[in-house]
Amino acid sequence: MKVHYKINGKDYEFDIHPGKVLLDVLRENGFTEVKGNCYMGTCGACTVLINGTPKTSCTVLAAQINGAEITTVKGLGDILNPHPLQKAFVEKGAVQCGYCTPGTILAAYALLKENPNPTDEDIKKAIDGNLCRCTGYVQQVEAIKYAITLLKEGK
Ligand code: FES
Ligand code: FES
Repeated sequence: MKVHYKINGKDYEFDIHPGKVLLDVLRENGFTEVKGNCYMGTCGACTVLINGTPKTSCTVLAAQINGAEITTVKGLGDILNPHPLQKAFVEKGAVQCGYCTPGTILAAYALLKENPNPTDEDIKKAIDGNLCRCTGYVQQVEAIKYAITLLKEGK
């Protein structure tokens, strides 16, 4: 079956098996910045924004969201023009192996869209579905707070 999405602002059409999950459709079509791990909706590595809301793409059937707008971490910025969250994660040492990072940044992005002045508890709650084996989360929370400062300064 054919599905259409807008991904990171561009239109795409894919011919997919109706039983495929979005994570696999994205990765098979070059969006390898979306990471797969548990395939059970528990690690958060595969998080993307679907119509602005963070969702685990391993638990979404690609066919069910035909017509959706999808944002991956590359939709926020790139190495030459990083989003403040991307900049902050690098500068605050919140990236080690980097496997969880795309999903965590997208969860944080969705939080800041809704609440530009979150408390530490709000931040922890927003990323509590994004498991990280490396950082211990302290640097991630610091990075998100630093990104808030950068956003306010327009950087
Ligand atoms: S791979 Fe989707 S939540 Fe872990
Ligand atoms: S940086 Fe390695 S899992 Fe988070």
